[in-house]
Amino acid sequence: MIYSASQPNILKAANLIQSGDVVAFPTETVYGLGASAYNAKAIAKIFAIKNRPNFNPLISHIADIDFLSEYAKTDERILALAKQFWPGPMTFILNRKDNNPALDLACAGLSKISVRMPNHPVALKLIHASGVPIVAPSANKSQTISPTTAEHVQKSLGDQVPMILDAGSCIVGVESTILDMTHKQVVVLRAGGLAAETIEDFLGEKVLFSDGNPNKPSSPGQLLKHYAPRYETRINVKKTEADEFYIGFGKIQGDLNLSRSGDLQEAAANLFEMLHIAEAQTKKTKIAIAPIPNVGLGRAINDRIKRASYK
Ligand code: TXA
Ligand code: MG
Repeated sequence: MIYSASQPNILKAANLIQSGDVVAFPTETVYGLGASAYNAKAIAKIFAIKNRPNFNPLISHIADIDFLSEYAKTDERILALAKQFWPGPMTFILNRKDNNPALDLACAGLSKISVRMPNHPVALKLIHASGVPIVAPSANKSQTISPTTAEHVQKSLGDQVPMILDAGSCIVGVESTILDMTHKQVVVLRAGGLAAETIEDFLGEKVLFSDGNPNKPSSPGQLLKHYAPRYETRINVKKTEADEFYIGFGKIQGDLNLSRSGDLQEAAANLFEMLHIAEAQTKKTKIAIAPIPNVGLGRAINDRIKRASYK
């Protein structure tokens, strides 16, 4: 059920989290399906509702930087990045602390943990009120298009989720950038809402991109088929076929346009919404997407549509 994200409803949602249930909530990137990081049964519910393979670990969402050192091993570079870009669309992969309690299920048994602080008032209030870190994958069935509105969550997960907190559309619209901080060089495991160039400028060093062996992904969720609409999808398309619903960019108008002015941030914010519209319409039976430059947020967009088009 969809509820407005009012203060009383946020408190109700926090009660559900504390009592071991799941709640869908808005972040600046996509809607998340949350549970207490310390409640194994609640986490198991997330995997069941999403049909998510349980080898795929979850991101812990925190509302306070201090929590980081309770969870994981940190260093100066990690803390500097956190201070600069949190709250925001940046997730760290860190080495777990040995005394880290009860997080095996969230981490899918890995020795590393992923953590982020979302930049959304509702998410932050919910984490504070719950009094625990909230683990949350995107609030959709595994492999389908990610949700950027409460209605998308309702469409994908329906009544399996007792409460969906509604705060309108997500501003960033693509998932967080995942940074593996456990090596000498920062490794981008998933391009996302924070551009790699921005991170490089701040650190004064280059980051690496993990191309990822799809059979043994270092970020296990980065499988080749993901974000898939129900229609066959082609990317980098300059000329469409008659049966294709065309998602344009810049001067290529299309049936819908990610950003007429060619603004990649605007395009990222529109991406999943337009894919949802494209898969819901019935006039055309295929989807085609115009070329998107592979810089800045374009990297995150290309990553998502490449997986969306995987056959
Ligand atoms: O923006 C986001 O990150 C959203 C919102 C809800 O915060 N969350 C999200 O979660 O995208 P999810 O589960 O859909 O994607 C998380 C990705 C998966 O590919 C997962 O395999 C990877 O992060 N991941 C999580 N923990 C990891 C770990 N310990 N080591 C390696 N990869 C990890
Ligand atoms: Mg996801």
